[in-house]
Amino acid sequence: MCGIVGYIGQRDAYDIVIKGLQRLEYRGYDSAGIAMYDGMNLNICKTKGKVSDLEKKAKNSNTVFGKVGIGHTRWATHGEPNDQNSHPHFSNSGRLAIIHNGIIENYDAIKILLQNRGFRFHSDTDTEVLVNLIEDVLNNEDVKLGKAVQIALNQVVGAYAIAVFDKEKPNEIVVARLGSPLAIGVGEDEFFIASDASPFIEYTNSAIYLEEGEMGVIRLGRKPRIRKIQDDKLVDPYIQELQLSIDQIEKGGYEHFMLKEIYEQPTAIRDTFRGRMLVDEGLIRMAGIDDNIQKFLNVNRIIIAACGTSWHAGLVAEYIFEDIARIPVEVEYASEFRYRNPVINSNDLLIVISQSGETADTMAAIKLAKENNAFVFGVCNVVGSSISRETNGGAYTHAGPEIGVASTKAFTTQITVLSLIALKLGRAKGTIDNSHFHMYLNEMATIPGKIERVLKENNHIEQVAKSIKDAKNCLYLGRGYNFPVALEGALKLKEISYIHAEGYPAAEMKHGPIALIDEEMPVVVIATRKGHYQKVVSNIQEIKSRKGRIIAIVSEGDTTVKELAEHVIEVPETIEALTPLLTTIPLQLLSYHIAVMLGKNVDQPRNLAKSVTVE
Ligand code: F6R
Repeated sequence: MCGIVGYIGQRDAYDIVIKGLQRLEYRGYDSAGIAMYDGMNLNICKTKGKVSDLEKKAKNSNTVFGKVGIGHTRWATHGEPNDQNSHPHFSNSGRLAIIHNGIIENYDAIKILLQNRGFRFHSDTDTEVLVNLIEDVLNNEDVKLGKAVQIALNQVVGAYAIAVFDKEKPNEIVVARLGSPLAIGVGEDEFFIASDASPFIEYTNSAIYLEEGEMGVIRLGRKPRIRKIQDDKLVDPYIQELQLSIDQIEKGGYEHFMLKEIYEQPTAIRDTFRGRMLVDEGLIRMAGIDDNIQKFLNVNRIIIAACGTSWHAGLVAEYIFEDIARIPVEVEYASEFRYRNPVINSNDLLIVISQSGETADTMAAIKLAKENNAFVFGVCNVVGSSISRETNGGAYTHAGPEIGVASTKAFTTQITVLSLIALKLGRAKGTIDNSHFHMYLNEMATIPGKIERVLKENNHIEQVAKSIKDAKNCLYLGRGYNFPVALEGALKLKEISYIHAEGYPAAEMKHGPIALIDEEMPVVVIATRKGHYQKVVSNIQEIKSRKGRIIAIVSEGDTTVKELAEHVIEVPETIEALTPLLTTIPLQLLSYHIAVMLGKNVDQPRNLAKSVTVE
């Protein structure tokens, strides 16, 4: 969703802000804009379209000058994507400029109030209402900018990360956060502002992450002054040293971030294991579980809430938790869970799964579970994200930054963490015996190497992609542990190639989807030897006899399915519970190649945002 960047210091702000916006492109957006203060004037340039369009437009304007500036990529919520609705927004007098990520829910009522006081509006956005509300406070009360922002924010309902610049106070930028992330990069006599650290990591690795409900006045020559928006309490800012490196957020020779991230999976999974899976000692050490072990062992059931790909990882976890730890599991879309008045109490444990750690619906699920006294455990990738802060305990996936909008390494590392938890609990409860536990650990350790073997199939998978790229529809089928993989394969295809695709449990085909099958319809079937193999082979025969085109993911050396399928892609053998970690990889590559061949924007598919911070 929207991205925020700001700079104040001694360098040219334009270059830093534009580059920062490019680094935030992965969040998803439909328009972009900047405001620069050149020492006299506050100049704004904004446009519908990409940051590259903004650069073209800004090139011949005054917006390229100045040592202080703010920039924004907008993912439209209130008002269509057009130049007017793009950020930054000016206040009526032209004194203030604001950028905003989030939603002001009561903007309509405030807008009427301000209109009655003579304010005029030039866009359909809630953000323009907020900047004028701040100006209204400045007009009517004898306060400084920081205080005016605070008074205004205490009147709004909603979610926000904002940065406000006042040309009468050109040495400072005021920022605030509630429900959307905001980081302040701290350099030598310079500060950076951004939705995450990627826009400033090449300049500084010292950062302050604003906590929920905090605001800050960032002024050159002194430490940022942070306080609570609601009660004005001063907070001592915690400056942390970031582990992020510039290589992690660049393409590193790959054509797309998605491809780089697919190839990073062996390393990402090794990083997920590191310090946790001690194969020689026959141990899984996870502080987030060890610290709360009684909670985990005494729960009545686990509820998993997540969205999109993370929800698919939750479905895989349902199989492994029930199979190995014998704990009942329910998997919920966070967006449904939050509104359907679920029965939940202190004997339940909620596990939320989120790559970004910022998904609004998942945040709401946490709030609901906490109100009902359930213990909440988070599986997140982004360190320090809102979800990782709001949960009672958690485990990071350690996948490293995921920039391609289509989630890949986040998914496989989520499954890895959840499998480790299931095994650890299974051992602690005695639902898995020692020899099986050791067998699992040994097999888990081979997974990164086995993924490397699957990645070697890339050229072959590209050929398979070529043969089905013109399909209008596609079915994905799997059973057991591979049913969620079928869902994930279909999601990957639709989100980046815009081909309609559906995932189904293979046996459900007879109850409806089989009617779709004809010689035009590619059906991707996961048919590995471990996991209802014979049943899936029967399903494949049913497709074959209706002339469907079969693309099968099979175990190495399979001959039966080879006879029936148009194409097979082989993956190494593993324990059934771990097959999703291998079968997912060819499906990611298949979608990737199809999208590239169709000329789609793989890393930034239309209409999608990397972290969905609004409902
Ligand atoms: C799909 C995808 C989305 C996310 C979903 C949840 O490739 O990326 O479906 O999985 O928006 O996001 P997180 O995991 O950040 O909560």
